[in-house]
Amino acid sequence: MEGILMEFNINLLPPVLFGTDTSLKAGERLKGLGCTKVLVVYDQGVKKAGIPDKIIESVKGAGIGVAVYEGVQADPPFHTLEECAEIGRKENVDGVLAIGGGSTMDTAKAANILLTNPSPIKQYTVRGGPVMKPGKILVLIPTTSGTGSEVTSVAVLTDPEEKKKKGIGGNFVRATLAIVDPLLTVGMPPSITADTGMDALSHAIEALTANRANPMSDVLAEKAVTLVMAYLPKAVKDGSDIEARTKMSFAAMIAGWAFINSNTQLGHAVGHTLGSMYHIPHGNACGVALPEIVEFISDTVPEAIRRVGIAMGLKTDESVSAANAGIMVRDALIDFNRKIGQKTLKQLNIKESALPEIAKSAAAEFLAASSPKKTSSDDILKMLKAAYMR
Ligand SMILES: [Fe+2]
Repeated sequence: MEGILMEFNINLLPPVLFGTDTSLKAGERLKGLGCTKVLVVYDQGVKKAGIPDKIIESVKGAGIGVAVYEGVQADPPFHTLEECAEIGRKENVDGVLAIGGGSTMDTAKAANILLTNPSPIKQYTVRGGPVMKPGKILVLIPTTSGTGSEVTSVAVLTDPEEKKKKGIGGNFVRATLAIVDPLLTVGMPPSITADTGMDALSHAIEALTANRANPMSDVLAEKAVTLVMAYLPKAVKDGSDIEARTKMSFAAMIAGWAFINSNTQLGHAVGHTLGSMYHIPHGNACGVALPEIVEFISDTVPEAIRRVGIAMGLKTDESVSAANAGIMVRDALIDFNRKIGQKTLKQLNIKESALPEIAKSAAAEFLAASSPKKTSSDDILKMLKAAYMR
């Protein structure tokens, strides 16, 4: 936010119940929201980890009927959430409870819309599509700390035919209540901890530097950057470090609020492109060229870059030039990526010859329009080439 003479919205919905073992209050809360039968949505990984059992017990214990959908897939393809909604319609549920990472929460958000709106989901992903009616009661319980989907009003889905990420968004694509229980993230392996944590960091840094950044998104994003820098390495090193897990759950949540009040931009434009083309982890894909992106935009939003640097613990105040602040943030991000074991473009087995196609597709991604600086596909190619050399 380079000046305050601007108009902006502040939206800090939904309500959140945060803290250790809060997920065991799911039943009580759903009952309070008036639910009599809910569709519980999760994936096979969360099922194997045994996470849904106790939560479902709490739901049944509150006298609420349960139907389940266990088929969530990463980068949720359209047909999976149609399947999920079909179960919800057949079972006549009056609520949806998601337990999982971003893909699970986004599947639940989209399926919930289809409980009260006609299929297919694709029609709601296009500008000027039909107006959506509100869905049913939706409670989201994250088991990772990165996506922020528990508090955002978007769901990112995959159109398998076009091999493109497609989104739905708006007030009805938001939880009625989020329950953030950091204990659920304890079993996450180091690589997923790092990938999802890098997603949260990308949300925060992109929100701070996007063309819609504002004083509220700045406050949230700065705090998120500071927390991720301090606690993500600890959570990666020791997954049972409850303090680190708690701080990361909080950071991911406020980074979600930061970007929904501002926007993500070039990092996610590149990330979505790499995700659609190669199915590499979302956070790694968003962070892979983030250092070069920050350097590229530093001449357009110098104050925002200084703020990113200061939140990272760097001395990027007025005593250094904007260009140097950009370089300092770039180098610190490269170090941080290494420290938490994030893969480079080469390590992700992406061929140098594929970079022009990736750049072209990223420049056409709708989030690229939120860049504070006019950005061509040639600009993105230059950034990708620089990132490739690392
Ligand atoms: Fe993201």
